Order: sequence, then structure tokens, then C-alpha cells
Amino acid sequence: MEYVDMYLVHWPMSVKPTKPHYPMKREDIMPMDLRGVWQAMEECHQLGLAKMIGVSNFTTKKLQELLAFAKIRPAVNQVELNPVWQQKKLMEFCKAKGIHVTAYFPLGGRHSTSTVNPVLDSDVLKEIAAAKGKSVAQISLRWIYEQGASMVTTSTKRERLKENIDIFDWQLSDEDRLKISQIPQHKTRRVVGG
Ligand SMILES: NC(=O)c1ccc[n+]([C@@H]2O[C@H](COP(=O)([O-])OP(=O)(O)OC[C@H]3O[C@@H](n4cnc5c(N)ncnc54)[C@H](OP(=O)(O)O)[C@@H]3O)[C@@H](O)[C@H]2O)c1
Repeated sequence: MEYVDMYLVHWPMSVKPTKPHYPMKREDIMPMDLRGVWQAMEECHQLGLAKMIGVSNFTTKKLQELLAFAKIRPAVNQVELNPVWQQKKLMEFCKAKGIHVTAYFPLGGRHSTSTVNPVLDSDVLKEIAAAKGKSVAQISLRWIYEQGASMVTTSTKRERLKENIDIFDWQLSDEDRLKISQIPQHKTRRVVGG
């Protein structure tokens, strides 16, 4: 491969160079040389190795820090985003700065430690899905799309892959959007330990 279309900084943090382990231990997490990392990302872009460069898991505070010295703005911020973790402040900030948001865990995520998936088991989403003749997954994905975000989702099942892409020729109503905006918010799960 001579270049990648998109290259992201996965987390705004560094870990000690230890044997990879997951979840990470708090004592192994170190402050990140954000300026140095971003300059190296910009160099990747300038050399034609990455057509676009971006970040992931960046808060508004971290983005502000980055934008203060970035010669090239991040094209994308990939973050957890779904109807139970709507990230309203971050969404507004990214929109104002021209940073596209990509949602991960759009369906609440795989390998959840809990038996309840707060997205797929949401009563509000189930009610909207039943009234529209859609699946709960489709309601969540459509809501994300209507926020102006893209999404990365996975399924091991062919039928679900088809279902998940079938969200472009219908829309949520104002009433649906209002109900979704009132869903109590919580992160679906902690990605980093410690
Ligand atoms: N940037 C980051 O820090 C970060 C962090 C975490 C994840 N990610 C990325 O985000 C992407 C998505 O992560 P994810 O797959 O864990 O989250 P997800 O898309 O929210 O959840 C996928 C889960 O939902 C199920 N599913 C898919 N379609 C469904 C449908 N129509 N109805 C019911 N269940 C459905 C799948 O099960 P089946 O396989 O059984 O269908 C799978 O267990 C991945 O590419 C991952 O690498 C990025």
C-alpha cells in the first residue's frame, strides 16, 4: 500500500512502551506530546502517505489544544456517538470548526460486559422502530446520519449488514427527534480501564 485514505490518532494519550495489554492500567498512561504527534501526522499528509489526517476520542478541550498549533486541521474526530451518548457540545464544536464526526459504537458496541445494550434495548428507540416498521438498529443509525455524522458499525450477519445500510430513503419525524433528544445520557461503556 502506497498511501492510506485516512489516518487517525487513536487516543489523545500515550502509554508506556510495555507489552500491549487491555484494558490499560492507569499507571501506564502518560501525557501525550500532542504537538510532536500532530506534526508527524502533518508530515505523513505532506509526503502523500495519508490523504487525510484526523483524530479519535478527542474532547473539545483536546481539539482546542490541537487547533492552537495545527497547520492542517483534523478532517475527522471519531468518537463514541449514539442516541444514549449524543455528545451535543462536541458535535456543535466540531461543526463550527469544520471537523467531520464519525460515530463508533453506533449500536452500543460489541462485547458489552452488561447483558443490557443501552442502545438496542432502549424503550424509546423500540417504540419509534415499531411505529415506523424499522429495526432499533436502523433508528439509531438514521439518527446519527441526521446529525451530519458518519458511522463505523460491524455485524457478522449478512442480513444485518443489509439492514444497516437501508437508512437513506426515509427519515425520522420531528416528534421522533424530540423523543430521542430526551433520552437520558450515559456512555455505553468505558473503553479505557483505570
Ligand atoms: N476509535 C476508537 O477508539 C474505537 C473504539 C471502539 C470501537 N471502534 C470501532 O467502531 C466500530 C464499531 O464497533 P462495534 O462493532 O463494537 O460497535 P457497534 O457497531 O455499535 O456494535 C456492533 C454490534 O451490534 C450488533 N449488530 C449489528 N447490526 C445489528 C442489527 N441490525 N441489529 C442488532 N444487532 C446488530 C453486532 O452483532 P452481530 O455481529 O451479531 O450482528 C455487534 O455485536 C468498529 O470498527 C471498531 O473498530 C473505534
